[in-house]
Amino acid sequence: MILSLILYFNLWINPIKIFGFLDSLNLHYFAYARKIVYSVCIMPEKDSHIVLYRKYRPRNFSEVIGQEHITEILKNAIKLNRINHAYLFSGSRGTGKTSVARIFAKAINCGDSGAGKIAAFEPCNKCAICEEIDSGRSFDLMEIDAASNRGIDEIRALREAVRLHPLRARNKVYIIDEAHMLTKEAFNALLKTLEEPPAHVVFILATTEFEKLPETIVSRLQHFKFRKPSEYMIKKSLENIAKKEKILIDDEALNILSFFADGSFRDAHGMADQILSLNEKKLMGESVRNFFGVPSGVLVREFLSSLFEKNAENAFKTINKVYNQGLDMKMFLKLILRNLRFMLILNLAPDMEKDIEDIIGKEQLDILKAEKGLMEENLMNSGK
Ligand SMILES: Nc1ncnc2c1ncn2[C@@H]1O[C@H](COP(=O)(O)OP(=O)(O)OP(=O)(O)O)[C@@H](O)[C@H]1O
Ligand SMILES: [Mg+2]
Ligand SMILES: [Zn+2]
Repeated sequence: MILSLILYFNLWINPIKIFGFLDSLNLHYFAYARKIVYSVCIMPEKDSHIVLYRKYRPRNFSEVIGQEHITEILKNAIKLNRINHAYLFSGSRGTGKTSVARIFAKAINCGDSGAGKIAAFEPCNKCAICEEIDSGRSFDLMEIDAASNRGIDEIRALREAVRLHPLRARNKVYIIDEAHMLTKEAFNALLKTLEEPPAHVVFILATTEFEKLPETIVSRLQHFKFRKPSEYMIKKSLENIAKKEKILIDDEALNILSFFADGSFRDAHGMADQILSLNEKKLMGESVRNFFGVPSGVLVREFLSSLFEKNAENAFKTINKVYNQGLDMKMFLKLILRNLRFMLILNLAPDMEKDIEDIIGKEQLDILKAEKGLMEENLMNSGK
């Protein structure tokens, strides 16, 4: 009684506080309680407050970019009703593991029997079950962070909980994120459950470091490796979002964001968000550069020209300029290496010119080709 009063007051004083309190107990049982608090106290976010990467989280298989080798198999499994009970999603950050896990959870539980659905294997995103999963309120989708629930006690509690039947959906889905963080004992405790989970349970282990998972675990899971998207894919996804959001974005901004996102859609969307939060609906190369301290192409070219001309003094002067302007030296180095790599490719595999153009645009490609010419001239002169 006293506990419920305390909870009640806490609830009205600060729902976020109790949300955090339940989380800090690190017991996934409390995920249920958390969901109740969440659904009662936290109002749905207004559209304008949703950050881009959450707003543009793919909501069905067809929206997932660059992971067709995975989505096709999952769609097929749903079509044929051959759902596995334990999956492993591995791949670098921001490539769609959590998004696909949630889409799969919706698709295998979707309450819509067909009418109005895009396809039988896609979730309808309209029924109560899909909506609950999307808003994080579903009692039948549990997302467990293995980084903070890594011990044997948590896994024992999980083993008990999986036996309970789903509340509303057909299947109970457990997403265990950062699964490589579980302790050895916790993995051992999980083995048996993964091998013979109750019929109503689907496990999805997600990890950025699958090499750290014991072989005994990996061999019991159907393994999907998420691919790191190319710069071009990230560029296209940013272009798409800009169009939908009616944001004016120039090619330089697109190139910088997709390059520095380093294969993560989330980072690309997150970086775009950071700048947009300051500004109006405009993303120009110059403001992106200033915001992140990215050295301009002029400085990179200046450095490379000095290098090709074997003018060490000028090369050092450029480095000094970058440093004095407070620009990011790591990014400077990355840009130099990238330009050199592209020049090498243009030299050795000229057929790949179009691929490079897709990534950096026509204007940058022309500049690069001119630099390549300069490099060749200098190399030839030095060989004489
Ligand atoms: N394949 C993809 N297609 C389109 N957008 C994507 C894709 N992958 C990631 N995103 C974008 O990045 C955000 C984060 O994706 P998600 O949470 O699925 O990544 P993750 O692989 O689980 O990353 P982490 O390893 O950091 O947990 C999404 O909300 C979406 O905006
Ligand atoms: Mg994730
Ligand atoms: Zn549905």
